[in-house]
Amino acid sequence: MIIIIDFGSQFNQLIARRVRENDVYCQIEPAGISVNKIKELNPKGIILSGGPSSIYEENSPSIDKSLFDLDIPILGICYGMHYMVNILGGKIKKAAKREYGFASLDIKNPSPLFKDMDTGFQCWMSHGDSAIELPENFVITASTENTSIAAIANHTKKFYGLQFHPEVEHSINGSLMISHFIFDVCNCRENWSMKSFCDGAIAQIKEAVGDKKVIMGLSGGVDSSVAATLIHKAIGKNLFCIFVNNGLLRKNEQETLEKSLISNLDLNIKFVDEKEKFLTALKGVTDPEKKRKIIGNLFIEVFEAEANKIEGAQFLGQGTLYPDIIESKSAFGGPTAIIKSHHNVGGLPEKMKLKLIEPLHLLFKDEVRKLGTQLGINDDLIWRQPFPGPGLAIRIMGEITVSRLAILREADAILLEEIRKAGLYRKLWQSFAVLLPVKSVGVMGDKRTFANCIAVRAVTSNDAMTADWAKLPHDLLGSISNRIINEVENINRVVFDITSKPPGTIEWE
Ligand code: XMP
Repeated sequence: MIIIIDFGSQFNQLIARRVRENDVYCQIEPAGISVNKIKELNPKGIILSGGPSSIYEENSPSIDKSLFDLDIPILGICYGMHYMVNILGGKIKKAAKREYGFASLDIKNPSPLFKDMDTGFQCWMSHGDSAIELPENFVITASTENTSIAAIANHTKKFYGLQFHPEVEHSINGSLMISHFIFDVCNCRENWSMKSFCDGAIAQIKEAVGDKKVIMGLSGGVDSSVAATLIHKAIGKNLFCIFVNNGLLRKNEQETLEKSLISNLDLNIKFVDEKEKFLTALKGVTDPEKKRKIIGNLFIEVFEAEANKIEGAQFLGQGTLYPDIIESKSAFGGPTAIIKSHHNVGGLPEKMKLKLIEPLHLLFKDEVRKLGTQLGINDDLIWRQPFPGPGLAIRIMGEITVSRLAILREADAILLEEIRKAGLYRKLWQSFAVLLPVKSVGVMGDKRTFANCIAVRAVTSNDAMTADWAKLPHDLLGSISNRIINEVENINRVVFDITSKPPGTIEWE
């Protein structure tokens, strides 16, 4: 196995994922892990992750120096490389300007990481500090125009450092470098698979839950369905699922879900109607974070009430994925900045008396889909586009009212129908309508109109960490716009969102 030391990078799960893609088991451990514990785990290699700190900052993450005496290959990425250089006697300097974005990597000296690669390919940089002096026995293996020490190696000790981020998609050859590190440097074997993850997760749930009961919110989406199926496989009828209708669902959603959940999954499900409660609490609220907090808190409250009706329920199951956590807080309480407070994790009140079971919390969406297939869940459910916990509330800019919900529901249903008809539903990560808080003037049937505007959002993505706006065909955009304006009352304008993530997020709020 490979151990990844978490120095607080947003990308450390991406590193884990790159390792897993090679069918090699890996584990992320906090920087505070003792070297004895590492010895016990007996890894074939160690990756030191990047992180937002500078090594000269007070309280920046650190790890015992004796890690470098274990005779285990080490790959340091960005902050991980700075840390290694500094602790082994080299020098790091704060750059005058942060370097962020693409650079061309020139290979200067051979390195097993660059096996069979031609020089001069794109790598992705994001750093404030740079190495300016190397420790003894290290050589520079690659440079970029701005960063002469962009990759380093100590071949004898098998220590390697990369200033750029090989784990992100934009670093050409990046995943290949990780794979060379795993196989050529560390001599790992390919023995990890979705089946082994699945078996391991079921065993862990069994052990954690025993004969206690778990209650779980089912949204009908991929994540909660896969998590529920996994928990069900572990504890059977001791899993009690609850579907909350919060009044923020899409058109016919409850009916569709009732059918697919009951016919596809052999689960205990209770449907709870709490539309009024949510809409009353959201009355007059326009701030996105407030909306999220209110919905998250109410959701938990409803759950507690339902849990109390089930005698002996001690656990709350959730389909939280890794990107949900990383955008709310670092998976290990590290320094990753909060981007949005996600429904699954942000609204959890301290007072909650249920313990959490989150079997998917280290997986990305495409991995969850693979796991779902492994569990025998049917394709329609597995390939549903994601729908956020706060539902349509974060797709209505401004106040949420019954009439604005009705407008958005109709527009969204038309959009999805057209996307499906065009055969694009599965190819898109998400496609949905957003109701804007502006009205504009139009002319319909010789009459002046002053009505609402719908934005069409469609994105492609692998993991929701980054996304590109989908280049939808113009005739499809035309039919979506025509149908929405003709069929939905109070809409006279449709616009198309051409923002990628970053700098935008997928949802508008
Ligand atoms: P953003 O808008 O942050 O969304 O780029 C990334 C992905 O997460 C979904 N999303 C959520 N999912 N609870 C969820 O379960 C939430 O509060 C939430 N907010 C956003 C979003 O639809 C996209 O797929």
